[in-house]
Amino acid sequence: MPNLSTMDDFVAVLPKVELHVHLVGSASPETVLELAARHPDAGVPTQPQALREFYTFRDFDHFLQVYWAVQSLIRTAEDIRVLVVGLARDLAAQCVRYAEVTVTPYNHLLDGLPGDALLTGLSEGRAQARAEFGVQLAWCFDIPGEKGTAAGRETLVFALRNRPDGLVSFGLGGPEVGVGRAQFAPAFTAAREAGLRSVPHAGETSGPATVWSAIHDLGAERVGHGTSSTADPRLLDYLREHQIVLEVCPTSNVRTRQVDSIDAHPVRRMLDHGVIVTLNTDDPPMFGATLNGEYLAVGRTLGLTPAELAQLARASVTASFMLEGDKTAVLAEIDQLASAA
Ligand code: ADE
Ligand code: ZN
Repeated sequence: MPNLSTMDDFVAVLPKVELHVHLVGSASPETVLELAARHPDAGVPTQPQALREFYTFRDFDHFLQVYWAVQSLIRTAEDIRVLVVGLARDLAAQCVRYAEVTVTPYNHLLDGLPGDALLTGLSEGRAQARAEFGVQLAWCFDIPGEKGTAAGRETLVFALRNRPDGLVSFGLGGPEVGVGRAQFAPAFTAAREAGLRSVPHAGETSGPATVWSAIHDLGAERVGHGTSSTADPRLLDYLREHQIVLEVCPTSNVRTRQVDSIDAHPVRRMLDHGVIVTLNTDDPPMFGATLNGEYLAVGRTLGLTPAELAQLARASVTASFMLEGDKTAVLAEIDQLASAA
């Protein structure tokens, strides 16, 4: 039995799942530096210190500019495989058993990565993640909202035509201001009719009206971030009553300057209101985040006990799109650890 005397020890061995992490945003600094040296035209630093500075974001739009520059470095199936396997390695080291990983096919195609190469890299990486690290990966294909309804249609067609193993959900990312959710309703309706689950970003960089729209227009079952939901008590009631899950990414929100600090994050009010909260990293190395770090930061800020941290881990498993049998297995692992703590 591991020594569980501190919160760090407990979180380190707590079996977890990650429901909101972007593939490009999970690239390790080593991988980014190597790709940047190969493609100096992209404007991404090739030295560690300069990359750390590059990852200091003035605001959310600046973050997206940086994210897109890194995304443009990815040109081959092998690049994708390396990203997927690197993510699985990082997840396994944190006792993460399963992750839903967001991929943005439309942007990769625009950057010159052929669709077949994207699919090959995902499939090979996923198989290796399972075989080498025991981590199960699922995919969310998301629309880059800033590219408009054409991107919505093309993301839908790419998802449904290819339907890779592990594809479970359909998302919407990028900026929210000036990018109404409702315009993507036809793509989400078709995706949901085809069996994909709806997980758009909303309420990360705009107010609660965006979260309402994600629910009513896009049929959101889980909302990416949903930070601004706490500004509308009726919305919190609705989220609780309909068990719509928030994919909360506290460090991301601090690093993109949407909230001042972890202490100031509305996660406490979400939990106090009975809303289902899951903890996630979004774009971990870009934000200097880890999933263990998110549990520790929230655990310390809210003064959570090991039992309450285990309950957060269970909430993510329950809200995931894993097969029921796989959920039961991870829940049993959590129960076993929690009863020993
Ligand atoms: N793409 C990558 N990270 C994102 C975020 N935090 N919000 C919206 N789109 C994103
Ligand atoms: Zn995100």
